[in-house]
Amino acid sequence: MLLKTADDVRGIRVACKLAAEVLDYIAPFVEPGITTGELDRLCHEYMINVQGTIPATLHYAPPGHFPYPKATCISLNDVVCHGIPGAKILKKGDILNIDVTVIKDGYFGDTSRMFFAGKPGIQAKRLSDITYECLWKGILQVKHGAWLGDIAHAVQQHAEGAGYSVVREFCGHGIGKAFHEEPQVLHYGSPGTLSQVWSGMVFTIEPMINAGSRKIHGMNDGWTVKTKDRSLSAQWEHTVLVTDTGYEVLTVSPNMPHPPPFVAANK
Ligand code: MF3
Ligand code: CO
Ligand code: CO
Repeated sequence: MLLKTADDVRGIRVACKLAAEVLDYIAPFVEPGITTGELDRLCHEYMINVQGTIPATLHYAPPGHFPYPKATCISLNDVVCHGIPGAKILKKGDILNIDVTVIKDGYFGDTSRMFFAGKPGIQAKRLSDITYECLWKGILQVKHGAWLGDIAHAVQQHAEGAGYSVVREFCGHGIGKAFHEEPQVLHYGSPGTLSQVWSGMVFTIEPMINAGSRKIHGMNDGWTVKTKDRSLSAQWEHTVLVTDTGYEVLTVSPNMPHPPPFVAANK
């Protein structure tokens, strides 16, 4: 069902806050010298022991995939998404996306942010910032009656306007009592196309933006996706609720990054 009940929204809101709080928790550990596997282990421990949440990605096995082996996805530099945490040691200047999806009382919450190991290069920082703006350009389109194409177009226009490309093989998704539900939320397209969104729908917006070509290339581990040209890739993700007048970002937490300045100006 695309429209959530008030009870569903309450449950999803809790799960979403918890997912965002995992990212707050892990932020200070992201430093040169730590492995992605250790970051995952810390997140996993926090979910299980502190929050009482279940990591949704662990053993997640959509059709045609091996069960995903870890509690988070950690996608480093030219990894577009679904990087499997492991022995890789962070070096100064690395950029990484940490994507956390938790289950609490049967409800899912899904969010990801970019992090830097030490000080990022100017280009890496710009890619992350523009991608964050793309997410928010998409969020600002969300309201009762808006078209999924409006969201898609806003993201694509901002990314391409900055000289970047939008990955097309992955999209945002409805979420609630399941990890991936209808609708598909594309990050490229035209205004007034696809389908409309209505108050009570909950979905993610999660643009993957490449510094170079949009082409991607899957690794032999069955999960990790890289840019074909090895250019850097960035991603940010929020789960949002459609309301009568606009949107409510559900994946909120005390230390989440502020929205870009154009969001406040818009309100
Ligand atoms: N959290 C991802 C998303 O935003 C999905 C990860 S699935 C996994 O939809 F199996 F790779 F973990
Ligand atoms: Co998602
Ligand atoms: Co996610």
